[in-house]
Amino acid sequence: MAIPEKDVQKITEAATPDLEERKKDLESRKAQARVAGGEKAIERQHERGKLTARERIEKLLDKDSFVETDMLVRHRSHGFGIEDKRPYSDAVVTGWGLIDGRKVFVFAQDFTVFGGSLGEVMGEKICKIMDLALETGAPVIGLNDSGGARIQEGAASLAGYGYIFDRNVRSSGVVPQISAIMGPCAGGAVYSPAMTDFTFMVSETSHMFITGPEVIKAVTGETVTQEELGGAMSHGSKSGVAHFVTESDEDCLEQIRYLMSFLPSNNFESPPYFAPTDDPQRDCPELDELMPDSPNKPYDMHQVIASVFDDGEFYEVHAHWAQNILTGFVRLAGHPVGIVANQPQVLAGTLDIPSSTKGARFVRFCDAFNIPIVTFVDVPGFLPGTEQEYGGIIRHGAKLLYAFSEATVPRVTVITRKAYGGAYVVMNSKHIRSDMSFAWPSAEIAVMGAEGAVNIIHRKEIAAAGEDGAAKRGELIADYVERFSNPLRAAERGYIDDVIEPHETRRRLVKTFDMLRSKRETIPQRKHGNIPL
Ligand code: HXC
Repeated sequence: MAIPEKDVQKITEAATPDLEERKKDLESRKAQARVAGGEKAIERQHERGKLTARERIEKLLDKDSFVETDMLVRHRSHGFGIEDKRPYSDAVVTGWGLIDGRKVFVFAQDFTVFGGSLGEVMGEKICKIMDLALETGAPVIGLNDSGGARIQEGAASLAGYGYIFDRNVRSSGVVPQISAIMGPCAGGAVYSPAMTDFTFMVSETSHMFITGPEVIKAVTGETVTQEELGGAMSHGSKSGVAHFVTESDEDCLEQIRYLMSFLPSNNFESPPYFAPTDDPQRDCPELDELMPDSPNKPYDMHQVIASVFDDGEFYEVHAHWAQNILTGFVRLAGHPVGIVANQPQVLAGTLDIPSSTKGARFVRFCDAFNIPIVTFVDVPGFLPGTEQEYGGIIRHGAKLLYAFSEATVPRVTVITRKAYGGAYVVMNSKHIRSDMSFAWPSAEIAVMGAEGAVNIIHRKEIAAAGEDGAAKRGELIADYVERFSNPLRAAERGYIDDVIEPHETRRRLVKTFDMLRSKRETIPQRKHGNIPL
């Protein structure tokens, strides 16, 4: 029997969704997502001096540029009562937006939901934006604030980390990856930030460790506070895990924006150019007075960097760790440049294990992302000692040598004073294909310093001089200095392209990089090199 027409109409009307209702329902769900952890948890977050995930994203990105993904995602786990609590967005806010008008992808772990712990769907949300970032060639910024693997979700949480780690590796060298630690980050969870290019930490509120103070106490008996063990300054000055130590959430987010101003969006792009306000042809007369009378007296290499580059601006990377080498970003005539420089003020500028590792990692980042490198050299050699030898200075020093040598970006060297022995060769010398090497008149390019050299090659002569040994030694040192402690021997052989006055350094570098901007160099085809790790 056919259903009467009027009944058909009624049934159809009943089945037709009320779109107004749906819109309201949708808005209600999205409103819930915006306070997924509840007002109380948000209050607690603020009391701890931390912003919420959404507030962080708002501060990080250009105004109104954030486009959220997966706002309506909810976990689908069961057990331990977790099935009764299924907040929208789960414990992470994801999406994309702009920094100074340039696209970036971002995820911010939400500590107010399950302590920001990572379960299955949180892993999926993060992976989704990492995939989009890789496909579209845009940086990924991760704001970490998490209790680690979501205990109720067991192996699914561990899988989530694995999927993220794998993407960190695939994205490495393709798009910049930046991590901010803005709360706890412990256990295996630390390995995602560790594989990104730069890690920021916030003083007092952020901590990173593989095992916490209680476990350490139980296993080794050692007593250590959370801050001493894994606080921002510990990782910023002792382990080198943190590249940047920041004062607060706001400071951290502001610094990430600043870092971005030096970086291209991906490995096919050039870093961003800003029209310079500082005259590219400017002299640096203060540098003519910088060098101390004695080669054993230190000076601050920061002064050289501040004089030469645009507006004295230097965004130092690892400012508190391995301070015998300086690394960081500057601009030269508006173009970003990476700096690697010996610092005579710390350990006389010698290369040791941490400084070699620090320099190598920075050089490889610059090379991966088309950022030219300037190296300032004042190096008396590698730091001697059993601690260094047993710690593997041979292996670690080799990293720096390897990194410079494999880099195909424009590389320019300025030798300001000492350039001794193997450390001279390692520090982006002409012999490992620096594109242009300059020396100041104060440069000393030699196998070693005059005193050490004379003690070795004239030992017998000095001994034979008996009482006059000291005078003889003095004479021989003066002779060695005259013959070797200058840049001319190296310049004669073309190991130095020119000896320049310190005040000319800025304009010579500007001209050199203008020439090198079209540099294209290829390295032999291979699966990958085998850097000594
Ligand atoms: C599920 C978690 C959680 C976790 C915290 N919470 N960590 N839920 N899984 N891993 C929840 C808490 O139950 C609490 O829920 C809320 O988050 C806030 O936590 P509190 O303890 O109240 O906060 P606080 O006092 O600030 O302490 C934060 C903390 C602590 C230090 C992070 O919660 C903690 O120690 N959590 C466990 C850390 C941990 O051991 N994680 C596993 C690490 S191993 P309610 O509902 O009460 O608000 C790991 C392996 C990764 O992560 C491996 C990758 C390969």
